Amino acid sequence: MTAGPDADLRAQLAARLRLLQGFTDFLPGPPLPSPPAEALEAISADLDGCTRCRLSEKRKTIVFGVGRPDADLMFIGEGPGRDEDRQGEPFVGRAGRLLNEMIEKCFQRRRADVYITNIVKCRPPGNRNPEADEVATCLPFLKRQIASVRPRVICLLGSVAVKALFPGVRGIGAARGAVWEFAGIPVVPTFHPAYLLRAEGERLQQLKREVLDDARTALEILGRPQ
Ligand code: URA
Repeated sequence: MTAGPDADLRAQLAARLRLLQGFTDFLPGPPLPSPPAEALEAISADLDGCTRCRLSEKRKTIVFGVGRPDADLMFIGEGPGRDEDRQGEPFVGRAGRLLNEMIEKCFQRRRADVYITNIVKCRPPGNRNPEADEVATCLPFLKRQIASVRPRVICLLGSVAVKALFPGVRGIGAARGAVWEFAGIPVVPTFHPAYLLRAEGERLQQLKREVLDDARTALEILGRPQ
């Protein structure tokens, strides 16, 4: 081997190559899944300015979701109402205040520790139920949210949410009391807080007891070792 600057350079390059070879195990390979927060940001960006269905015509804001990106418990409602449409956050009106109470008193969590979203992300005019094609258009985004957060339990709020994830099930009356499964995740259906707001007297007390039972079911699953 010749001595001098060229030989030094060659020796340095050879040393670098040996160093790189040690790292090839860490290079390419299959892409790692994004952390939940980044994955949610990407989904939200894909929804930006969405005009995929007619709900976009009257909405003010796309109401994506709120809470911990890695929450163990996820609540899914129906769709934004007037307050949510204005503020861009799910469950901030009267039903939202009752949901917060349910989360704290029955599910023993704080709102900030769970993830909350809806079946459709834009307000159906006059708070009507979302129509089948609107649900079908928005559902892929919800499925991506679920896959990103990977909660240990999903709590479905009311009939619209139940029918969207389990077509063929008649509604919340038929669904609650059992644990379902969606994408491998246990699903506990319970009453929508807006339904409780319309009830009175003994019926209201009975609904509250049933929500507490559903929350106990969810907590029992959450308490199981992972
Ligand atoms: N009702 C829902 O289903 N979702 C909201 O975000 C508010 C009210």
